Amino acid sequence: MNIPVVLNGNKVMLLDDADTPLLSVLRKNKLYSTKHGCEKGMCGSCTVLLDGKPVPSCKVPVSLAVNRNIQTLESFRKTEEYQDIMKGFSKAGIKLCGFCDTGKIFAARSILLSPEKPNRNTIHEEVSHLSPCCTDEDTLINGILYAVEYHMKRVED
Ligand code: FES
Repeated sequence: MNIPVVLNGNKVMLLDDADTPLLSVLRKNKLYSTKHGCEKGMCGSCTVLLDGKPVPSCKVPVSLAVNRNIQTLESFRKTEEYQDIMKGFSKAGIKLCGFCDTGKIFAARSILLSPEKPNRNTIHEEVSHLSPCCTDEDTLINGILYAVEYHMKRVED
């Protein structure tokens, strides 16, 4: 099946079976930020943005991506929001391990862009399903709270 998509800002044609998980198709196309983790839609290691919303790409058949915008971490790294998140993570002592990064980073992005002011409880609700392999939840929450501070300061300046 031919699958026209906008992938990281470029119109491309993906070629695969309709029910192949988007995760597998992205990795075949050398977008290795998406990882094979639980493959049950829980751990967050395969997260991508589909029309701006975070989704577990392991649970999305590629046929559902027809004519939609897919953004992977490779592209999100070029944004100012990513820099805010990295500053916050760095202040909290969070290092990126390369495996569970998409879950942590795209969860942080959702919180940054939410109109609600986050607190530890609301962030817990957003991240408790993740299985970060290198960061405990308290530290992740600290990093996200710092990231929110950096983000608010930047957009208010
Ligand atoms: Fe997709 Fe875990 S591999 S959510």
